[in-house]
Amino acid sequence: MVKRDEKYSWHVGSCPPPIDPHSRIKHQLVKSYLERYIQVLMSNFLIEKLTLSVVDGFAGGGEYAAENGSDFHDGSPLIALKTVAEQQVALNVGRQKLRHVDAKYYFVEKDPENFTYLSRLVGARVDAGRIGRDIELVRGSFQQRVGSIIADIRKRAGGERAIFLLDQYSYDQVPAPLLKTIFSSVKGAEVLLTFNVDSLITFLSNTEKSRKKLEEMGLDRYIDWESLNRLKSAGGNVWRSAIQRNLAKGLVEVSGARHYTIFYITPMGSTSWTYWLVHLSNSFKARDVMMELHWQNANHFSHYLEPDLFTLGYRTDADRDATGQDEFDLGDGHHFDAIANRRCLDGLAAKLVPAIYDLGAPTQFGSVLEEIGSSTPGTADMIRLSLDAAIRNGDISAAAADGAKRTRGSTLKPADILTAGKQRPIIFL
Ligand SMILES: C[S@@+](CC[C@H](N)C(=O)[O-])C[C@H]1O[C@@H](n2cnc3c(N)ncnc32)[C@H](O)[C@@H]1O
Repeated sequence: MVKRDEKYSWHVGSCPPPIDPHSRIKHQLVKSYLERYIQVLMSNFLIEKLTLSVVDGFAGGGEYAAENGSDFHDGSPLIALKTVAEQQVALNVGRQKLRHVDAKYYFVEKDPENFTYLSRLVGARVDAGRIGRDIELVRGSFQQRVGSIIADIRKRAGGERAIFLLDQYSYDQVPAPLLKTIFSSVKGAEVLLTFNVDSLITFLSNTEKSRKKLEEMGLDRYIDWESLNRLKSAGGNVWRSAIQRNLAKGLVEVSGARHYTIFYITPMGSTSWTYWLVHLSNSFKARDVMMELHWQNANHFSHYLEPDLFTLGYRTDADRDATGQDEFDLGDGHHFDAIANRRCLDGLAAKLVPAIYDLGAPTQFGSVLEEIGSSTPGTADMIRLSLDAAIRNGDISAAAADGAKRTRGSTLKPADILTAGKQRPIIFL
């Protein structure tokens, strides 16, 4: 087995480290997300230019040895460079007037040998004139360099759209207050963060050392310290669910990001559930795109929250008193497969339709989406679908702004008005 230090260790003149299943899935997601990001933002063909900054804060050496031992697998910096270039080509197919993705890349790497490997690799793959112009190779720790990178992004003409790829291999290199700095200083920031839950769990205990570390991470007040040992010894899904609810709430709240996805990466063929892949943004659409990718990569992600609507933050005693439910009932594991899809749709329908009745007044579909926010594993399309039966059978009527009646959930637009029928459906009485 490859040790963690060797897993991310590059030396010029030697073979790069082997790719592992987690990284493969991460890379697949980064690539797909960048593709969709550019497609969505350039969906209006009148837009000629997209100004974008890509910050790879934990860049690594830039390539891996593939499983077959003879090929190479691109690391995140090369994936970013190639994906943006490919999308730019795709945007211009059949066009006379060219459209442009004006991207600037910041590749940060702390380890001197890894940095040298990365510099040589990138230097060999791009025109020399690009280094220092649209590609910044930054040696040092992300925490120390992020300030000047943010300042540079803010100076760029054309906006502050920036994707921060923060692929730390542990859990403490990107403290939550640093996320807050990013979101409060860069208007169009999005963060894709890996978070090694296994390492944190091994370390967590109700001791001064553990509390201090969590305090440094800005997350101490989100841990239910008193119940920690009991939850840990309960093990399995109960523990996964509790830690996901509490820490996810902390990361999201402290970061100040309005939208999030926070799920476990579960590579095929592996029983481990070691990492979270966290996406933070201020855009509902961005979150929806990421959610769609989770469903497309069904078997590689999982969660231990409710399958339809969930609440982050969980204090065992308070929850038991409030719900009468024992914590051991919580924590079913879900993938993003057909079963989870069905549960999500049924659950959303069972909760949303009565909630619309309870409002007692017409409401915009957009307000329903806004209200649900990120507290569901469902996509916006799944939320539409969950209202389909109620709209078709008239339990809920839906009208466009011009008064046109909607007859299917799938055609709902954010400005549509939803009105509960006069008679509450018998099933919800
Ligand atoms: C998980 S690897 C990155 C892999 C890379 N993102 C990829 O997908 O190909 C983490 C890298 O971050 C570097 N690193 C660790 N701490 C760092 C820090 N504080 N700032 C910047 N780089 C750091 C490590 O040397 C290592 O190369």
